[in-house]
Amino acid sequence: VKVSATHQPRRNAAGASAQRLRGAYYTPGPLAAAIAAWAVTPTANRVLDPSCGNGILLAAARDRMEELRTPDIASRLYGVEIDTDACRHTQAALALSADQIRQADFFACSLADIGGQPFDAVIGNPPYVRHHLQTADAKLRAAAQARAAGIELNDRADAWAYFCAHALSFLAGRGRLALILPGSVLHADYALPLIHAFGVGSGHSELIRVGERVFPGVLERTILLLIDRSREGAGEVAYREVDDVTGLQRALSASTSAGRRKGRRPAEPAASADVNTRAKMRVAWHLTPAEASAWERVTALDGVSCLGDVARLRIGVVTGANAFFVRTSDELDRLGVDSVPLVARSGWFTGLRWTEQDSARPNRRSALMLIDPGAELSDALTAEIAAAEADKIDQRYHCSKRERWYVLADRDPPDLFLPYMSSTAPAAVINEAEATCTNAIHRVTLHPGIDPEAVAVASWTSLARLSAELFGRSYGGGVLKLELGEAARVQIALLDDARHAIAEVSTVLADGGRKYSGPAARASADQTVLVDGCGASPRDVRRLSQAADRLERKRTTG
Ligand SMILES: C[S@@+](CC[C@H](N)C(=O)[O-])C[C@H]1O[C@@H](n2cnc3c(N)ncnc32)[C@H](O)[C@@H]1O
Repeated sequence: VKVSATHQPRRNAAGASAQRLRGAYYTPGPLAAAIAAWAVTPTANRVLDPSCGNGILLAAARDRMEELRTPDIASRLYGVEIDTDACRHTQAALALSADQIRQADFFACSLADIGGQPFDAVIGNPPYVRHHLQTADAKLRAAAQARAAGIELNDRADAWAYFCAHALSFLAGRGRLALILPGSVLHADYALPLIHAFGVGSGHSELIRVGERVFPGVLERTILLLIDRSREGAGEVAYREVDDVTGLQRALSASTSAGRRKGRRPAEPAASADVNTRAKMRVAWHLTPAEASAWERVTALDGVSCLGDVARLRIGVVTGANAFFVRTSDELDRLGVDSVPLVARSGWFTGLRWTEQDSARPNRRSALMLIDPGAELSDALTAEIAAAEADKIDQRYHCSKRERWYVLADRDPPDLFLPYMSSTAPAAVINEAEATCTNAIHRVTLHPGIDPEAVAVASWTSLARLSAELFGRSYGGGVLKLELGEAARVQIALLDDARHAIAEVSTVLADGGRKYSGPAARASADQTVLVDGCGASPRDVRRLSQAADRLERKRTTG
């Protein structure tokens, strides 16, 4: 990149803090060149750097345009910079006017201030200013611009997040955006609305993590955000990793030529990320590098697999009218109708097993009415059915789909129950009562040869809990929800002989009650299943447990 690098942020004691306040860490030349090579395409008419500093990215864009033989290059480069010195330097170095390199606060700028038309390429290295360094006024302006772009950021968000949001408003319909972001884009909660917006917004979006430290003296990892509005998006942000800037250059030039090949044709939908890529992305997004390595090691151990690989998961029985079908067994006896024991609420579980005694607790609506279509109905039952039809229960969606609305076909008892909505990651419960459940609980039917005790005790480990936190969804009020597909990805470490482990965890739970001895039971499962049984290192297990605690805290405290 041909740019005079004479202008560097001041580095004396006072300067160092001024540098930190403005987030003025300039982009190294090779990285700038790689970004410009990707973002500036042969059809790029106008380029913007919203926080242009010494102009290194704009100089790289100019060099790229020279390579592409773009005519009249000088008229196509635009920048904004809040610092007067840096701004003057860039105007002089690139021989551009104050209209094109504006000395201004980017958050006070709209398209009308910068030529009036959207940009084909937006490139930048926004300031990484910790939120507490920003003034209240600056924050209000920034938040208003993010909101105008449809992105609501909370007041813990750093300056770069607001820059991203506002920069999106400057990008043309088929333009490309490339921003250098800090590692917090992957794991900070405040970044989630942005990630969501990148995923659902028009275009293909991608985050690339650079393994090496790119900015001397800056600890943060570098993540490159790429948005290509000429390609169709997959609905979520793609993620990959490269080792260093050379790896990044290679990755970017591969995607430049891929983009170019497709460029003239109508955009093709990008293949959606497969399950492993998505899992890898979540791990990279939510775990620290040390936790992610522990996760890699533990999930690679013998005996560790996804719940979905050893079992079939189904939702519980959908009756369409629980008040009609789910009764106490006394009521059903009176009606002279068959029944099967049923669990209607995950709150009923107290330990690792659901037994016949649990099912037989009196006065609980824990029996599912099973009307035999061939049998004669008692008068009492006929009257119940008539009353339900008078209340139009037979016309409810699920009931109306049945040949005879009151005859349930699906009532299979599972091997284990899996609660899927709770404030702590769920644990599986062995079904010793041949009971079934309503769709408040998932049904787990094991593949032949899989031991239910091994699955139940494995579901208490930090590995299972962390995977539920990683793959599940956070609902209002701190509730964690696992849809079937997400539950299938819960990682379980299966022991060949789980008797000792399950006895230990059962004892802990019996001592304190499930609600109060959860942490102790989890610690016991971590030791007996992961460390003693599978050979995981205690340190790795501690990391998984800490990560699960942190994600749970984040989820429950917002
Ligand atoms: C990380 S540096 C990057 C500079 C240049 N784009 C590069 O890649 O080397 C961030 C720049 O943003 C500028 N800046 C900080 N707040 C700004 C604001 N509100 N509006 C415009 N520029 C701002 C800083 O002065 C600094 O020069």
